[in-house]
Amino acid sequence: MRILVSAGPTREFLDPVRFLSNRSTGRMGFAVAAAAVAAGHEVALVAGPVELAPPAGLAALDRVVSARDMLAALRRRLAWCDALVMTAAVADFRPARRAPRKVHKGAMPEALRLVRNPDILATLRTRKGGRLFVGFAAETDDVLASAAAKLARKGLDLIVANDVTKPGAGFGVETNVVTFLAPGAAPEALPLLPKAEVARRLVARIEALAARKGARFPSRAVPARMRALPKRSERSHTP
Ligand code: CTP
Repeated sequence: MRILVSAGPTREFLDPVRFLSNRSTGRMGFAVAAAAVAAGHEVALVAGPVELAPPAGLAALDRVVSARDMLAALRRRLAWCDALVMTAAVADFRPARRAPRKVHKGAMPEALRLVRNPDILATLRTRKGGRLFVGFAAETDDVLASAAAKLARKGLDLIVANDVTKPGAGFGVETNVVTFLAPGAAPEALPLLPKAEVARRLVARIEALAARKGARFPSRAVPARMRALPKRSERSHTP
């Protein structure tokens, strides 16, 4: 398959030296990209500003800064892919105005006016076609209910919910505690696992979803073990 992964935070500058962002380090997204490469897929990674070395074997790597840059990069690559995995922590707001020069503190307004950034998944949804769209939901309360609402609202095939308040989950750590939610399937709660293992299981889940969709994928780069998977109709004969 051809898998397009977004990772990391976005930065929304208010002047050349200050920005709004979030705590994402890109670890989960880079792990997903690495796991997809290791499973034999072609992988394009669109990364916000992160410190990590990119995984070896990528088909493409785009470095972006803002949410609007990320949307533009993903839009350019969408037609290429069979699956989009949005692990990026996209900043929902940006300063209404970006000053061309440093705003000195005496001139800084007490309240910043913010405008909403585009919702990338919602924007790309109009060109989804037969592609798989996978989202992440980093939550602090009502984790599964909030993630399930996003799954439906954004028309996703799968969402990875995680409670970022749990020890060993969320930002800047090497482990995660997630639940996979997909329409019409029971939630799959995984134990505390290294992000690399969460990523490996996510890629396997994407492969299973892809196998169900079968011939609708344009990519010819389907790993042999996926081609060997029985189609749904064949599987229904198995007890
Ligand atoms: N996402 C996106 N564009 C945005 C914000 C988020 O495509 N502007 C994607 C994220 O990459 C993630 C999913 O949507 O895969 C859920 O992100 P999250 O921040 O949890 O949801 P929001 O839509 O921002 O909703 P809320 O702020 O209500 O939590």
